[in-house]
Amino acid sequence: MVNQSVKKTVFIRTFGCQMNMRDSEIIREMLQEAGYAMAVSLEEADAVLFNTCSVRQHAEDRVIGNIRALAARKKINSDFKIGVLGCMAKRHGEMLFKEYPQVDMVVGPSDIYAVPELFGRVLSGEEKVIAVKNIKRPHKKVGNTYWDGGFSAFVNIMYGCNNFCSYCIVPYVRGREVSRPKNDIVNEIKELVDKGAREITLLGQNVNSYGKGLTNKIKFPELLEEVNKIEGVSRIRFTTSHPKDADKSLFRAIKDLDKVCESLHLPLQSGSNKILDLMNRKYTYEEYLDKIDLFRNMVPEAGLSTDIVVGFPSEKEKDHNLTRKAMQEIRYNSAFIFKYSPRAPALSSCLVDDVSEEVKKERNNELLEIQKKIAHKKNKALIGTLQEVLIEKVSRMSDKEMVGRARNNVSCVVEGDESLIGKLVQGEVVGASAYTLKVGLLK
Ligand code: SAH
Ligand code: SF4
Ligand code: F3S
Repeated sequence: MVNQSVKKTVFIRTFGCQMNMRDSEIIREMLQEAGYAMAVSLEEADAVLFNTCSVRQHAEDRVIGNIRALAARKKINSDFKIGVLGCMAKRHGEMLFKEYPQVDMVVGPSDIYAVPELFGRVLSGEEKVIAVKNIKRPHKKVGNTYWDGGFSAFVNIMYGCNNFCSYCIVPYVRGREVSRPKNDIVNEIKELVDKGAREITLLGQNVNSYGKGLTNKIKFPELLEEVNKIEGVSRIRFTTSHPKDADKSLFRAIKDLDKVCESLHLPLQSGSNKILDLMNRKYTYEEYLDKIDLFRNMVPEAGLSTDIVVGFPSEKEKDHNLTRKAMQEIRYNSAFIFKYSPRAPALSSCLVDDVSEEVKKERNNELLEIQKKIAHKKNKALIGTLQEVLIEKVSRMSDKEMVGRARNNVSCVVEGDESLIGKLVQGEVVGASAYTLKVGLLK
């Protein structure tokens, strides 16, 4: 326990995906339990912890910019401490100390439970504290209910990834896939619900392979069934599904389980079979499309989203055209489009990054434009329908408007005040833009 009279304040800045957001919540609560206070801004903090992402160079550059910007402050005040946590810590390790002497602590994603102890060592004067070795992530069996508050909570159901998509750094920084036992997950959700959470998002890099390696045999749809039974949970979401493992049993669970929202994020990555093969995705476009057809037949009202990478090595105009055609054929509700970024030691970093930045940008913008038009049309088609919206927060545009999500994951704006936050409301769609639905509450 830290001496309260010299309570240090810590600022945590998070980059990257929901796994990192969840990790930051855990780290924040552990530090608070250990007696530290959270600073509301970087300026007034005694220490900053960057929870970092390595998925693209751009993500790393943002962190590096933040670290560089603190060099002068560190020179003036050597008591100000800087920690690099998460995926960059694992990817670069000791190198971070060499490149950026202002950094005091480096902790990989598998070692986050040691952060309070390691940080304590930094404060007591130990230099260059590092923990990045333990690739198999231990997790607390019970009582792992660190949570940021609010009504929406993330719950890890598995760590790591075994897929080795050739472009992807995640298996290298997050280690091999490990599923958490069902009871740990269910107990964690029950505790979160007791604290006030209503919407649970189950997290894993490939949730459809949940259960492999556990002594008590269980598959992901069965886990959904168990979570669906928990009293107090209003909505269940999950991310991410890998197309090769998504099947009828998953679609049936989405269709039949009342709390599981009708939405699916199923990253296609490319519409070209040549590129999919080079990406080591283990499916063809035709196989992917068959699954989408089956899913839409079973759950016609569902929302569908995807990730696309443009400019993968050797992607020619004709490959790009196939991706464009795929997006026009599938008509997603939303799509995240990324420019390819080589990530050593991921396998594709051995291929020549031969699509120029300019062409990547053009392809990226073109797909964004196409997606925007499709989403707008799909949203307009929802005008007049009834939607259930979970209200999340006050709109940035006006304090008389609240924002939330429909079950299909499309973002909604609802007229009302803060008393609606956390509530499930029913309303009719009265307007639509490319990114949001305007919903009028039923009187
Ligand atoms: N496990 C998840 C995704 C993790 S990373 C899944 O398989 O869907 C999120 C997205 O980032 C990926 O789907 C991919 O579209 C993108 N991405 C990953 N590595 C990338 C790279 N090297 N360059 C560009 N985009 C990348
Ligand atoms: Fe990366 Fe592929 Fe694993 Fe997703 S499934 S985390 S893209 S290696
Ligand atoms: Fe997530 Fe980025 Fe790490 S996407 S797993 S924080 S590399």
